[in-house]
Amino acid sequence: MTTAIALLETLADVGVDRLRGGYSRHGFDRADAELREWFTAEATARGLDVSTDRNGNLWAWWGTPGPNAVVTGSHLDSVPGGGAFDGPLGVVAALSALDALRAEGFRPTRPLAVVVFAEEEGGRFGVPCLGSRLLAGTLDADRARNLKDADGTTLAEAVRAAGLDPRWLGPEPELVSRIGCFVELHVEQGRGLADLDAPVGVASSILAHGRWRLTFHGEGNHAGATPLADRRDPMVPAASLVLAARRVAGSVPGARATVGRLVPTPGGTNVIPSTVDVWLDARAPGDADTRHLVDDVVAAAREAAEAEGCTVTVREESYGDTVIFDGGLRDELTSLLGGAPALPTGAGHDAGVLAGRVPTAMLFVRNPTGVSHAPAEHAEPDDCEAGVAALARVLTHLAGAPC
Ligand code: GLV
Ligand code: MN
Ligand code: MN
Repeated sequence: MTTAIALLETLADVGVDRLRGGYSRHGFDRADAELREWFTAEATARGLDVSTDRNGNLWAWWGTPGPNAVVTGSHLDSVPGGGAFDGPLGVVAALSALDALRAEGFRPTRPLAVVVFAEEEGGRFGVPCLGSRLLAGTLDADRARNLKDADGTTLAEAVRAAGLDPRWLGPEPELVSRIGCFVELHVEQGRGLADLDAPVGVASSILAHGRWRLTFHGEGNHAGATPLADRRDPMVPAASLVLAARRVAGSVPGARATVGRLVPTPGGTNVIPSTVDVWLDARAPGDADTRHLVDDVVAAAREAAEAEGCTVTVREESYGDTVIFDGGLRDELTSLLGGAPALPTGAGHDAGVLAGRVPTAMLFVRNPTGVSHAPAEHAEPDDCEAGVAALARVLTHLAGAPC
């Protein structure tokens, strides 16, 4: 039987980012194609029936696909320059847990499936949880088809190149109706479990969060020949936005605001940009606080733009309200796992999207430093195995009794 860590190591060379460090694996790119092939081979070798749904999510079924299925899995894509665990740990843990169930002679009384959701991070097309949102019908298919990556390739073009028909993108109520419950195992993206000295925990909630793209418009010009008084430099209000995000988030309890991506056009050292695109990631404990936070940051950005003779346009790229995971399922899992702690998270997940449709739970595996979305992201092999054992226990409980 292959351990989860050994399985994870078989992916070590896929999508390595030699420039930024870590991994860059994005929806429907070359690394993604390799990862899909890898998953299909691993699942097929386990006798599972693999299919791709209309939105590019992969499903591997143990038993005939049908209603009331117990579904587990996660995603294989990464943020740019991301770690090895965010996403893939949940997929290898699912396969490894199925191995453990098989080794015990377990026969599920409900259909069991492992799912790999497409483009969870939104690292290529900007909208996170793209595959699960399309599946659940919380993202408009026309809008999705027209999303563009940094090179101007649309999602429609990318899925077509990957062998899917972009006209198929959209809600799949029949497939969703088969899911009796969904359990996603994930590396923890904080120090909650490390501080509690616990290898495995259960998720309680996810912060409300979203992404906003602010485009500052100014006047492209010469860095040396343009006196300061004559400039309309969009980088100046863009810089104010970065500082406003930190300042405003600091005044809202539990809130976070981040600018991790800022693109000046044309982007020359000796060129005053004509436009600057700034992506704001904002999160807070509730909808009202999140909206408030964003409104205040945008107001500060508008004021700074006006002072520089610039304008700003704002577009909401994605949004998800606070998720409170199914209390019954959470309590069932906590007691099944001998009182494993229940923890909130600030990170978004496909499980958060699914939670709006079906009973959903998450298991977290201890991350000793809490670092995530970075090459230093880590989980100890023993903790990963504890996660697999916990997932196997949960699947056994949910999908039937051992024979
Ligand atoms: C995904 O991991 C997110 O929280 O952005
Ligand atoms: Mn992530
Ligand atoms: Mn993830």
